[in-house]
Amino acid sequence: MSLVIDWEAMFVAAEAARKRAHARYSKFFVGAALGCEDGTIIAGCNVENASYGLTVCAERNAIARMVYEGKKLIAVAIVVDSQKPTPPCGMCRQVMAEFAPASMEVRSRNLEGSEERYTLGGLLPHAFTAEFL
Ligand code: THU
Repeated sequence: MSLVIDWEAMFVAAEAARKRAHARYSKFFVGAALGCEDGTIIAGCNVENASYGLTVCAERNAIARMVYEGKKLIAVAIVVDSQKPTPPCGMCRQVMAEFAPASMEVRSRNLEGSEERYTLGGLLPHAFTAEFL
């Protein structure tokens, strides 16, 4: 088990994943990379659909892969091509909260390398989680 987070490797993976996005409608290509407890990095990209509402964000696609691989989430890196790096959408925040504590760090970069840093708890205070059920 390794709790060291290799952010640079995660951003490299997220940038590569972004190039695989299926974003023909919005043209907003997103790559995400998850840092896992054992040091593994799992990436995902957004996948859009002609029935727009079926779009799945990069972060949630990466999380689905992570669950399949049986890994534990400890950090999230996002790469977008926007003037200001973008935080994850509300749906992705809720899905992250299913698998990680409020203290987890989420970082986002644009292609120029500008970076924004968040915690999951800052992005989604009072998350609805299994503890309430
Ligand atoms: N998108 C993501 O992949 N992640 C986010 O956190 C925000 C939005 C995608 C969804 C859609 O394909 C495109 O970006 C524009 O919203």
